[in-house]
Amino acid sequence: MIEVNNIKKSFGDKVVLEDISAVMEAGKCNLIIGTSGSGKTVLTKCMVGLFKPDSGGVSFGGQDMLAMNDEERKELRQQIGMLFQGSALFDSMTVEQNVMFPLDMFSTLSHSDKKKRVNEVLARVELKDAHKKFPAEISGGMKKRVGIARAIVLNPKYLFCDEPNSGLDPQTSLVIDKLIKELTQEFNTTTIVVTHDMNSVMEIGDHIVYLYQGRKEWEGTNKEIIFSKNDLLNKFIFASEFLQDAKDMRMLEMKGKIANDRNMDDLLQ
Ligand SMILES: Nc1ncnc2c1ncn2[C@@H]1O[C@H](COP(=O)(O)OP(=O)(O)O)[C@@H](O)[C@H]1O
Ligand SMILES: [Mg+2]
Repeated sequence: MIEVNNIKKSFGDKVVLEDISAVMEAGKCNLIIGTSGSGKTVLTKCMVGLFKPDSGGVSFGGQDMLAMNDEERKELRQQIGMLFQGSALFDSMTVEQNVMFPLDMFSTLSHSDKKKRVNEVLARVELKDAHKKFPAEISGGMKKRVGIARAIVLNPKYLFCDEPNSGLDPQTSLVIDKLIKELTQEFNTTTIVVTHDMNSVMEIGDHIVYLYQGRKEWEGTNKEIIFSKNDLLNKFIFASEFLQDAKDMRMLEMKGKIANDRNMDDLLQ
């Protein structure tokens, strides 16, 4: 679990984060959404310790990051897996070498055990026969899989994904989203996904924090979004008239279902 407690952050006289608090639970995909410039990246950077908030703090598993000593902070870093925007693979390294990199940096495993672990995670993200390929030789979706394999190779407790779908077609995006969700549940990681992909929001949004101009404007689940009356959120999520109509239809449909279920209950009593 990660707790964000009353984080404030300004650059000069520009307030970028205004008193943000949120609880990100383990085993869930916690999404941070909002238009560009709303503070998503600054918030995630504060969470992983790349920025120091002006006030407030972040705790991991109940431990305040700012109160940690160097040793504890180093240990925490190793429990954080990161999938960077655009995958950020090393171009001069093969897929296998890319995934091996965190093991070379942080683990004391023997070379053959490292290879075994690399094989395991590459199999887990369903990448076979790509070990010896270079990033330039594989598709965008495959690159993301390599990025995910590298992010989970050290068995992280916390997984941060910045725009995991950028540059992918909708179908491949969905496959990557589902993979992130499966891994989150399988390993009970506390997963943070920064996204403005509405498919992701609806597909994997167990918990969604909507930022608007540095404020937490709305918080809830993907199911609650359908019923939300928050105008700013609705404008952001259901930007087109088409989607607004789809939301209204879905709401009517779900209301009907709820009403029907109630009738069923009445009949059964
Ligand atoms: N290092 C920085 N110095 C000054 N301003 C910054 C810095 N990083 C981000 N900002 C400003 O903070 C605001 C939020 O940025 P960011 O978190 O990157 O937005 P998002 O990720 O939601 O698109 C923007 O107005 C941006 O210009
Ligand atoms: Mg950003």
